[in-house]
Amino acid sequence: MKIRNLRLNGQLEWMAFAEMPAVGWEIPGRGRNLQQTAYEIQVALAEDTEFASPVYATGRVEAAAAQFVQIEAEALPATLYHLRVRAWTNEASSATDWSDPVCFWTGLGDADWQGQFITPERPPRPRESCAFYLRRSFTVRGDSPIKSAVLYMTALGVYRPFLNGKRLGDTELAPGWTAYQAHLRYQAYPLEGRLEPGENVLGALLGAGWFKGTIGQGRCNYGRSTALLAQLVITYADGSRDTIATDTEWQCALSPVSFSEIYDGEIYDARLEEEHWSEPGFQPLAERGWRAAAPVRVPRDYFKALRPTEASPVKQQESLPALRVFETPAGERVVDFGQNLAGWVETRAAGEEGDYLELKCFEMLDEHGNAYTINLGAAQQTLIYVFARQGQVTFAPHFTFQGFRYAQILHFPEGSEPGTGNFSSHAVYSAMERTGHFLSSSPLLNRFMENVLWSMRSNFLDIPTDCPQRSERLGWLGDAQIFAPTACYLYNADAFFRKWLLDLACDQREDGGVPHVVPDVLTYSNWGYANPSSTYAATGWADAAVLCPWTVYLAYGDREILARQYPSMRAWVEYMRSKADEQGIWNSDTMQFGDWVALDAPPGSRVGATPLGLIGLAYFARSADILAKTAALLGKDEDAEDYLQLHEKLRENFRQLYLTEEGLLAEEAQTQTSHVLALAFGLVPEQARQPLADRLAEMIRAADGHLLTGFLGTPRLCAVLTEHGHFDQACRLLFREEFPSWLFEVRQGATTIWERWDGIKADGTLHEPGMNSYNHYAYGAVAAWIFSALGGLNPDEHEPGYKHSHIRPLICEQYLTQASTSLQTYYGRLSTAWTVRDGAVELTLTIPPNTTADIELAQAREIRDADGLDFRPAAQGYRAAAGSGTYKLSYTIK
Ligand code: BGC
Repeated sequence: MKIRNLRLNGQLEWMAFAEMPAVGWEIPGRGRNLQQTAYEIQVALAEDTEFASPVYATGRVEAAAAQFVQIEAEALPATLYHLRVRAWTNEASSATDWSDPVCFWTGLGDADWQGQFITPERPPRPRESCAFYLRRSFTVRGDSPIKSAVLYMTALGVYRPFLNGKRLGDTELAPGWTAYQAHLRYQAYPLEGRLEPGENVLGALLGAGWFKGTIGQGRCNYGRSTALLAQLVITYADGSRDTIATDTEWQCALSPVSFSEIYDGEIYDARLEEEHWSEPGFQPLAERGWRAAAPVRVPRDYFKALRPTEASPVKQQESLPALRVFETPAGERVVDFGQNLAGWVETRAAGEEGDYLELKCFEMLDEHGNAYTINLGAAQQTLIYVFARQGQVTFAPHFTFQGFRYAQILHFPEGSEPGTGNFSSHAVYSAMERTGHFLSSSPLLNRFMENVLWSMRSNFLDIPTDCPQRSERLGWLGDAQIFAPTACYLYNADAFFRKWLLDLACDQREDGGVPHVVPDVLTYSNWGYANPSSTYAATGWADAAVLCPWTVYLAYGDREILARQYPSMRAWVEYMRSKADEQGIWNSDTMQFGDWVALDAPPGSRVGATPLGLIGLAYFARSADILAKTAALLGKDEDAEDYLQLHEKLRENFRQLYLTEEGLLAEEAQTQTSHVLALAFGLVPEQARQPLADRLAEMIRAADGHLLTGFLGTPRLCAVLTEHGHFDQACRLLFREEFPSWLFEVRQGATTIWERWDGIKADGTLHEPGMNSYNHYAYGAVAAWIFSALGGLNPDEHEPGYKHSHIRPLICEQYLTQASTSLQTYYGRLSTAWTVRDGAVELTLTIPPNTTADIELAQAREIRDADGLDFRPAAQGYRAAAGSGTYKLSYTIK
């Protein structure tokens, strides 16, 4: 038996590491109460195939720890290591076999960079968005075999790497989007077996991307021209090393990508193609525009901003065929792919030289069935391909992406009729391990969960965005904060969030103010708010600085994320403290979004009716609470005490300001969201909780049984009701099909989650286009409750990462006869599956090896089969503690 699923920094796949990673693994076996008793790790240079002289060896360590075990060794630069693990369990006296070794590359330290940034743009072309070819020929020695070779590449812009005429890897839109001024990612491409003795050629296609192109309200947010940085390190068997790096030997020329912009799409003029441009033997001729690349002066200090992409690079993922090509009543020819997503259309078409193909991508048909593009704002989302010669081509763009379900065919080459066979759509997003699955007996609910999944895919393209289609696509913190728990169920978003949270800290202001969006292009390009300082410090948005690291910690269990983010978390709470009055109300002069797009917003406003002061105080208290816990975990006892007291004081203030003597919320706080926040964040004394929850339930009934909540109230609404005996009410909200509700959207044909409850109204008309995205994951945040309540899968903050789980499935017989929920945790698969008929429940649950759980069956009246577990009556229903294994339980709930 071997250990399984060896992870480095939580990942099953990786590119390169700046420092030695932490190791994790799963214990094999399905037995009950299986526990690891000891482990052993060895790390060696890759050439030391037998681990004869490891650079790191733990020997046998008596411990149950099997995740985030740090390799305590120094990482040599540009070095290929391999690693293996074995373990002992309480089931057998001998160790498991050694795992198959896994290899990993290390990156370059800032002093190891010999390459310089080079640019094809001299003089700069700030207004243009063409992409360039860059190439360099070099010689590989023939007198000694190559032991290893790795290429590191990045850009100020976006790039695709090539070697000897072939594209390297399948990462899209590299190096992704970061706070470039402080943090730039480079990518590692192992080149074993791909270099030939003699001439070889490295190439790159370099485009404008987020760096130079238009993003937010302006362009050139980070710089006026693009640049490339690369370094190839070849290690020969005789121990010598060759380095080929970016320098002025590189040649550059205009490429056929004559325009490519994130929002606007791409123009590819095949007539500008240079065949064989990145192959040996090619002559880069001056008369064809080839010239030497120019060095870019970058402070040496900037090399400290370079970090390798460890994991989760952006990739092309699902491919969907076109379902139909049809004509709208307005006479538009439209392709329907059946699924809203972010990515691009791939077109296969034949044409004559100079003829072209033109598509415009969009999300929705209007009430008349015509193309609805007005909600795209300024984003053109247009793809053009110009033919160089007669013949069939396949075209997909390089440095852009579109948010779309449909594409309008604005022009198709003469002489051929477009059909479904000409088109397919490709989803493009960060590669993450799919972890969470939920399937129930309700097709509508299942489709809703699919929609949440698709909105996550559409908006996890290197950073968490609000939407992927209109001229926005920014890393809005509020959206990310409320959706993060759901994201961490659906996918392994550990590496994704680690990266983005680093940018959050980079973009945080000196005074602790946290920007509305990360990377922060609003401050750079000045979104045009009346108050130019209004690009940061919005309550519920900025709190992502504290809440997201905590969510990631709960889901995956690595304390390092808290240690690393701690200064940023603390700075944000201190910012609020510095701005707040005695009562903790911080009416700063920065822009606030409140309970964004709630249905109780006054006419003409997007800000819901819940008082801003209340929301600010509630989030201040919540962040102080999480910060206090974090400080305690990190052994910062003074801070822990300080923030605990702050939290207590803020709770007390909340009580004084918003709780009446009758124990209800004050008149101005009579909104659903006020109640949700007061309860979810634990802001009222114990005895006030139930009356407030009952009042919330009553308010929902009074509102004709529906929610009125916006971004901040909606995610926690069902959880708060459930925790206070109103599970039935939560289910009624979830399964409601009339407007406004989650399933209303599904019934209206949604394939992703909408920004507005009434994106399409009951009468079929659409919401006003100013802010009307059909692919906003925010309201999909209720999916975390579906996993946690209907599936019953919950992390435990005292043993995070599901080392210990709270399993608390709730049965909603009124709507479902069955539900299966599973989560691939770092320890293995955690799952529940229940069926119910006439109040009799059959529940199968699986707890991964080396973990434990407590099982709470809050609705249980009688346990008929406990499958060996010792269930005890609890305040509600029954509870039992369990070790690993699969258990088949039956009980009654009536
Ligand atoms: C975005 C939201 C975001 C909001 C801030 C909008 O434009 O699409 O999702 O959180 O601005 O209020």
